[in-house]
Amino acid sequence: MKLGVCYYPEHWPRSEWAEHASSMVEMGIKVVRIGEFAWSRLEPADGELSFQWLQDSIDCLGNAGLEVVLGTPTATPPKWLVDKTPDILAVDQWGQQRRFGSRRHYCFSSPGYRQECKRIVTLLAKQFGRHPSVVAWQTDNEYGCHDTIFSYSEAARLAFSQWCSRQYADIDQLNQRWGNVFWSMEYNDFADIELPVSTVTEANPAHTLAFWRFSSDQVASFNKLQTDILRELSPGRALVHNYMGNFTDFDHYKVAKDLDVATWDNYPLGFLDRDGNCDEDLQRWYRTGHPDSSAMHHDLYRGAGRGRWWVMEQQPGPVNWAAHNPSPLPGMVRLWGWEAFAHGAEVVSYFRWQQAPFAQEQLHSGLRLPDGRNDTAAGEVATLSKEIARLGANTSGQRIDDQSIDDPAATGQPPVAAVLSETKVAIMFDYVGNAMQDIANFSGATSTAYAHFAEVYSACRRCGVNIDIVPADAPLQQYALVLLPNMVVVNEQVLASLRNCAGHIILFPGSGSRSADFATPENLAPGLLKQLIDVTVTRSETLPAFAKPSATTDEHQYHVRGWRERIDSPIEPSGYFDDSWDDDSWGFHYRQKNIHYLNATLQPQDLDAFVRHRMVEAGVTVREAQQGLRYRESGQMVFAFNYGPDQAEVGKQDFLIGNSTLNPGELAIWHKP
Ligand code: GAL
Repeated sequence: MKLGVCYYPEHWPRSEWAEHASSMVEMGIKVVRIGEFAWSRLEPADGELSFQWLQDSIDCLGNAGLEVVLGTPTATPPKWLVDKTPDILAVDQWGQQRRFGSRRHYCFSSPGYRQECKRIVTLLAKQFGRHPSVVAWQTDNEYGCHDTIFSYSEAARLAFSQWCSRQYADIDQLNQRWGNVFWSMEYNDFADIELPVSTVTEANPAHTLAFWRFSSDQVASFNKLQTDILRELSPGRALVHNYMGNFTDFDHYKVAKDLDVATWDNYPLGFLDRDGNCDEDLQRWYRTGHPDSSAMHHDLYRGAGRGRWWVMEQQPGPVNWAAHNPSPLPGMVRLWGWEAFAHGAEVVSYFRWQQAPFAQEQLHSGLRLPDGRNDTAAGEVATLSKEIARLGANTSGQRIDDQSIDDPAATGQPPVAAVLSETKVAIMFDYVGNAMQDIANFSGATSTAYAHFAEVYSACRRCGVNIDIVPADAPLQQYALVLLPNMVVVNEQVLASLRNCAGHIILFPGSGSRSADFATPENLAPGLLKQLIDVTVTRSETLPAFAKPSATTDEHQYHVRGWRERIDSPIEPSGYFDDSWDDDSWGFHYRQKNIHYLNATLQPQDLDAFVRHRMVEAGVTVREAQQGLRYRESGQMVFAFNYGPDQAEVGKQDFLIGNSTLNPGELAIWHKP
């Protein structure tokens, strides 16, 4: 459990660097990320290298005892480079070339840009790769930020047609698998393939999906180009990338295969305001963030990092980029930190050390004001730092928030770890399936497929249980309950691991409903999954928000939200919908042994009820749901977090931190009885 900070030495006079470093140490910071946007200072003109300032800065941080994460500067190609190789610029969906003047203007497919990245990363790795203070490298910065995964450039078109020719034996096969006979979309040659953009009406979903997969692969190969160099020239250093929240435009698991640690950037208030939450949720949580958003991403990226993950950027105060950017409730900076550690984070690092006095992000707060005075987050970070040191050193089981330990650097065996093996509930998250649900507007129920996934996650977390989010190839034996909200494509491998899972499995609507080329299975949905449960989907409908047909079962009255499927099956359903208009009643929820097929997306409170019933059936111990109160267990410890807006009660416990009554923004930690 270490605290970190994002720092831009190139933004500040050199005379202040030593004071910055010593103040970081005083605040309890151990890890500092630098360099990720500094290309124009590292190479002011073509081939003119200027590395001394970075060397001095790393030395300065290192001399203060800080560990350095060095970013590769490839998110910000400088002006001279853009002018030299204009094909590095990406092209947006309207055919406009993206221009210089902010960041992420490059196209992943530009061969020229790839060469330039190889060159600068090699030079940096040679210079700093064995520096004793450099403990990790961050590749680039936030792949995809500002909508930058899909580029419609000529370079992308060329690379896409080559990608297609590697995927399909010949053009006839591609035509056949995409169904190009429909609307005369057949191609005669791979070289003729267009990008799925500016089509009159929707493009062929197979085409759109292929382009999605291609673009995702371009990110992975762009990242690998850097990690190959760094592995060779900077042995022993962790290779990381900082992923984003609520972002699914590429397969993060694939990129993670070439990394050692998954990190992500957590802006709970920015996400709440930006990412389409309803007015009620905005009102409840505008100063705390949605109670499940951080936790969901912690679990997602712990899975992507195969157990190793950090928060690379954590919101310290108001940000500048959402429609509204409120201050966090006092206490939240500390709470968000503890939430991450409770989920097994190795590092929580704040963005940024000192608020920028110029350019784009002047309204984005930091740990310090632009004039170097502490901003409010600094105090909470110092408290958190003392608490994690005490918890790490605490073997006596006594309270740690009223002891006085002066040395924040005191460490012991960290008791908080990613204890994957204890977790009984898993949600399978598939990036391709998520993309397919959006391409086909499958989810119907909510604004995006990811929003539906988040509802499923929330329903689980409101039961007070630990959750793993796992990729499709994860082994499932340890779980008592596995939920599959977006497994649109199911292959033999997934089928086999579902077979090997003795726990309960919930298949959501759309499961197994398409091939990898977006075609309907010959035996209809759920395709291969019929080997687990004898159901056939004969109709899918999506409903307007006012239409909420219900089905009453022995356990609950369930209401549809958006999407419903009609099932043909010899299995007796748990109930029938109330709006069946012919003799042939429309069934709801089919179960065969441990396999459940849920043939509708549900209103949130009904999804809660459904998930809670399945947890109990599966033998998972659940807690009573309370509005903003959330739990997480780690080893022998229980964490409780109150996201508000009301006071919450956690009962009498053996507290290390906190009390039985938690005000909004407060947390408690106790030993399991
Ligand atoms: C992140 C980005 C940072 C900074 C931050 C502001 O998306 O990685 O460089 O812009 O947002 O919140």
